[in-house]
Amino acid sequence: MSGKIIAFAQAKGGVGKSTLCANLATTFSENASTLIIDCDPPQHSLSAWHEIRHANYEEDGLNVKTADKPSELFNLLETEINNYDFILLDGPPHINPMTKAVIAVAGLVIVPLAPSPVEVWSFHEMDKLVTEATKLNPNMQSRLCWTRVRKRVKSAEYLIEDVKKAASIKPFASVLTQRVAYLDSFAEGLSVYEWTDAIARAEVWSVHSAIQRLINKCGKPNIGKRKSILEWSRK
Ligand SMILES: Nc1ncnc2c1ncn2[C@@H]1O[C@H](COP(=O)(O)OP(=O)(O)O)[C@@H](O)[C@H]1O
Ligand SMILES: [Mg+2]
Repeated sequence: MSGKIIAFAQAKGGVGKSTLCANLATTFSENASTLIIDCDPPQHSLSAWHEIRHANYEEDGLNVKTADKPSELFNLLETEINNYDFILLDGPPHINPMTKAVIAVAGLVIVPLAPSPVEVWSFHEMDKLVTEATKLNPNMQSRLCWTRVRKRVKSAEYLIEDVKKAASIKPFASVLTQRVAYLDSFAEGLSVYEWTDAIARAEVWSVHSAIQRLINKCGKPNIGKRKSILEWSRK
């Protein structure tokens, strides 16, 4: 078994990376062994989420480990790549060596983005970085995932259309809307799959199935390029 690596990366915090990562990891772990590597020190919010989950509920097929530096991420990937079907990397809230490492090593990079002007400004940096990373990681797929979308808000609809025209990263057709279920379930160590909001469940399911349809096109883990990725990440 060689795990598929999916990275969640963005140049900004608060866009919904960890929320999306936790929800998709839970969904993957229903049928496949799944590891999250929480690459966001010192918060490590997914480790905190998993501790609550682990303390309150039965064991499931989902594990969480942490990496504080790109070299630690590579050490973990080298050890674990054949032990899991899916390895999800939750990146930091800014562009730094860890963000660059997660993008350069993954087969699929998901860039969550909320439709607000400030977040869209920082997305352009990310869009460029993902394009630059394809030099080291040519078979990587990337997708933008709109999160925290407020329905029937005209300015948000215009922003989504503008980004679609300008960005190199293609969006998933499915979006996550702004719903309290994402906050509340996370605080309980759960996913929206294990919560009461059927719309939120359907949203996550829809993104999950889009990933499943894409997964065979995604690049293999780019672990062999460790040295060049670490050099590039420090630039
Ligand atoms: N779709 C959503 N609807 C409502 N709140 C959300 C949604 N996604 C994330 N949040 C909330 O937004 C905040 C930031 O999300 P988080 O996943 O921690 O972002 P990041 O990892 O990008 O910093 C959290 O309080 C989270 O509960
Ligand atoms: Mg986070």
